[in-house]
Amino acid sequence: TAISTDLFTLTEDHRAVREAIRDLAEHEIAPHAADVDERERYPIEAQKALTAAGFQAVHIPEEYEGAGADAVATVIVIEEVARVCGSSSLIPAVNKLGSMPLLLSASEELKQQVLPSIASGEAMISYALSEREAGSDAAAMRTRAVRDGDDWVLNGTKCWITNAGVSSWYTVMAVTDPDKRAKGISAFVVHADDPGFVVGSKERKLGIKGSPTREIHFENCRIPGDRIVGEPGTGFATAMATLDHTRPTIGAQAIGLAQGALDVAIGYIKERRQFGRHLAEFQGLQFMVADMAMQIDAARTLVYQAAAAAERGDANKTYLSAAAKCLASDVAMKVTVDAVQLLGGAGYTRDFPVERMMRDAKITQIYEGTNQVQRLVMARALLK
Ligand code: CAA
Ligand code: FAD
Repeated sequence: TAISTDLFTLTEDHRAVREAIRDLAEHEIAPHAADVDERERYPIEAQKALTAAGFQAVHIPEEYEGAGADAVATVIVIEEVARVCGSSSLIPAVNKLGSMPLLLSASEELKQQVLPSIASGEAMISYALSEREAGSDAAAMRTRAVRDGDDWVLNGTKCWITNAGVSSWYTVMAVTDPDKRAKGISAFVVHADDPGFVVGSKERKLGIKGSPTREIHFENCRIPGDRIVGEPGTGFATAMATLDHTRPTIGAQAIGLAQGALDVAIGYIKERRQFGRHLAEFQGLQFMVADMAMQIDAARTLVYQAAAAAERGDANKTYLSAAAKCLASDVAMKVTVDAVQLLGGAGYTRDFPVERMMRDAKITQIYEGTNQVQRLVMARALLK
């Protein structure tokens, strides 16, 4: 019997996607990354370049006028953008996060209403699960949605919402039956122009400073009845199932940041001389570089495997997605800290991108579930 030798390589399509997005990232996103960080401003050049090339939401299927890229191609896009700018990588990543609940559970009409605008880049979409008092314990949320005639009326506050104020659409989880905890939560799609939708002030952060993180408030926010995603009571399950598909995208952001830092560090130690030779000639530093690359490659393999498993619907997808995000983000933190070390004093300055990458990497251990929560999710899957 013939055994495929292609089992553990990317397809030609995937390699072509990487080549195209790397070129775009290096030429149109990287030149603005330091300024975006320094001025804590939205990476508008990245949004425009990604949209012009059709990379801002590649995962939207063709039936909703999207590119129909698979999950591995999508993580490659996010990884390559993160390699030069962590903040910008949240444009494609959060477009997937916000739209995944619809792709998984919304009516055909709602999908047709929202998804083509994401596919064209005319609109972006955010995901609103977290609240001030309900972060890791997401099911403890308090935001309420109450039926009123044909409409739903929302009240409450979501916090930490990535791309709030930039996105036109928001997928919002809210309580419809307070006695049922997780089973009493429903998902809705809210538009920025809906009455009673208010965007709050911007968080001041350690990293990903170009990515806006804001509260959003619902003040008797009235939306049409058909904007519910799936049946009442299914919103928490949809929100969790979404994370099975998107935790690998955060893993991709993490390995992109790590690869970016390693690439800079390798370039630096091959140039810089001390004690009469290139730093790259010191075995102590060679071993650091070897460890960094090895860890990135292990994490990347798990990220691609998890992305593909989620898309196929494999039985172990919840475990794999949590494992991929957890490993990749821990690797990103370690590798970016080591990259700063390899550049010495220069690494500690804003003249080089590695200190930014180190600050950006930290968030990957926290959002889409902290790494403690990932371990909880993995353990539950293993022990059930
Ligand atoms: N797929 C489908 N349904 C699922 C599911 C999954 N993976 N996980 C849970 N559910 C459903 C099930 O119906 C489940 O009920 P049963 O077990 O009876 O079937 C129901 O949800 C309740 O699940 P749990 O009992 O596991 O709920 P819990 O209250 O114990 O919480 C948790 C579980 C894993 C801790 C969850 O609260 C969690 O993931 N917390 C972290 C929150 C998080 O990741 N937030 C990310 C916000 S987005 C973000 O950060 C944005 C960004 O990166 C840019
Ligand atoms: P807490 O839950 O208060 O956790 C504090 C600490 O306790 C952590 O170390 C945690 O791991 C630990 N801990 C909590 N429970 C347990 C447990 N059972 N066992 C062991 N340890 C535990 N949310 C959205 O909905 N949409 C977004 O777009 C979004 N974007 C974000 C962007 C940024 C920049 C940030 C900072 C957050 C974002 N979040 C978003 C929210 C993010 O998902 C939460 O911050 C995260 O899930 C953790 O919740 P928390 O901050 O309330 O921490």
